[in-house]
Order: sequence, then C-alpha cells, then structure tokens
Amino acid sequence: MSSPVASTNSVAAAGPAPGRTRYTSVAIALHWTIGLGIVAMLAMGLVMTHVKLAPFTQFKLYQLHKSVGITILLAAALRLLWRFAHPPPALPDDMPRWEKGAAEGTHVLLYGLMIGMPLVGWALVSAAPLNIPTVLYGVIPWPHIPIFADLHIKAQSAPVLARIHAYGGYTLIALLALHAGAALRHHLVLRDDVLRRMIPGLPWFRRAQTRTLS
Ligand code: HEM
Repeated sequence: MSSPVASTNSVAAAGPAPGRTRYTSVAIALHWTIGLGIVAMLAMGLVMTHVKLAPFTQFKLYQLHKSVGITILLAAALRLLWRFAHPPPALPDDMPRWEKGAAEGTHVLLYGLMIGMPLVGWALVSAAPLNIPTVLYGVIPWPHIPIFADLHIKAQSAPVLARIHAYGGYTLIALLALHAGAALRHHLVLRDDVLRRMIPGLPWFRRAQTRTLS
C-alpha cells in the first residue's frame, strides 16, 4: 500500500498537493540554493557594472557571473519540472483570497525571472560585438545562442538586451524583498507554518518553534 506522501508525489498537477504539509526535501534544497545563488548574482552583477575594478578582476567577475547564471538556469528548469511532478502544499485555508492571489502572482513572476534573467544574460553575451567566449568555471565551453550570435545588428541589440537584463535585475530585487517580507510576516506576526514548511527539518529550528508556539 502506498504512503500518503508517495501517493501525493504521483500527482502530476500544478495545483496544491492534498494532504502535504511541507515541501519535499528536493524542493527545499533547490529553493535555498537558487535563492542564495540569485542574491549572489544580483550583488555580482551590480558590482561588476557599477564599481571601478581592475580589468582582470572585472573579467574574472564577468566569467563567474556567467557561470553561476547558467547553473541557475539549469537548476531553475529542474525546479520547475520538480514542481509539476510534486505539487506544493496548499496555502492556509484562512488566508484571504487577495493574499493567495498576490502570493501566487509573485511566485509566477519569480519563476519567470529565474528563467528569464539567465536567458536574457545569455542572449546578451551572444549578441555582444566583442564576442567574448563563455567558459563555465574556466572548464566547460558554453556556446553562444546562434540566433543572437549571427545578428547583423549586434551593436544596436546588445545595449537593448543589457537594459532588459538590468531592469529585470531591479524587478527581481523588489520581488525578492516582497517575497522575503511576506514569509517573515507569516512566521513572526501571523505565526503560521508558511515559512516553516520551506525550512529544512533542523532540530534547533524545531525546538525554537516549539518554544515560540507553546
Ligand atoms: C539569475 C540570473 C542572473 C541575475 C540575477 C543577473 C543579474 C545581473 C545584474 C543585476 C546585472 C547588473 C545590471 C546593471 O545594473 O547594469 C547583470 C549584468 C550582466 N549580466 Fe547578469 N544576471 C543573471 C544571469 C546572467 C547570465 C546567465 C549571463 C550570461 C551568460 C549574464 C550576463 C551578464 C552581463 C554580460 C552583464 C553586464 C551587462 C552590461 O555590461 O551592461 N547574467 N546581471
């Protein structure tokens, strides 16, 4: 006989999983790894474009930015596939409809930017007139996207793509602040399980929760 978790795991739908109270371990690991990666990418992107650095340091930072960005693209695609196969737990029943809508809308936008930002970054380096190759972590050669690499109007396209990438980054910063603020409000003010179900089951955290909720 299959366990309740195993049976919810087999639900291949985008809606919430009935009976599930926590995200799966894989979803939790991908969430925090990608989240930290994105924060690092935003900081790196802003430093390499707005801070005066020695040319070699700047070049190394660009290469690292491209490497981590492509890694995030692959991890985000995996995360999206995982989500379709393992629907998340439902939001609390007593959450107002507008808040559920806002949470779901923010999640859709975050997924869009998680995939869209690396794709635009990749298009941007492919269309750059300087044609600098991308070698992931200095080891794996990564191709340019042919349609952008073969453009006849590279000099005009690259700055437009750079601007889209930059505004995407600023939007991502705003959405991340909203997302983290909402999670903290649930945890510290409403004192429900919304944040806890995305936290790895660490013993110290469980103890702290027991104290807070008792
Ligand atoms: C989640 C993934 C990514 C995030 C959050 C991100 C974020 C950023 C940010 C905030 C900037 C600074 C924009 C500005 O203020 O002008 C930037 C610049 C840049 N990013 Fe990304 N990026 C990501 C992925 C990528 C990828 C995958 C590539 C290439 C393969 C890439 C290539 C670049 C380049 C070339 C610049 C400099 C653009 C310029 O010189 O104007 N990025 N990125």
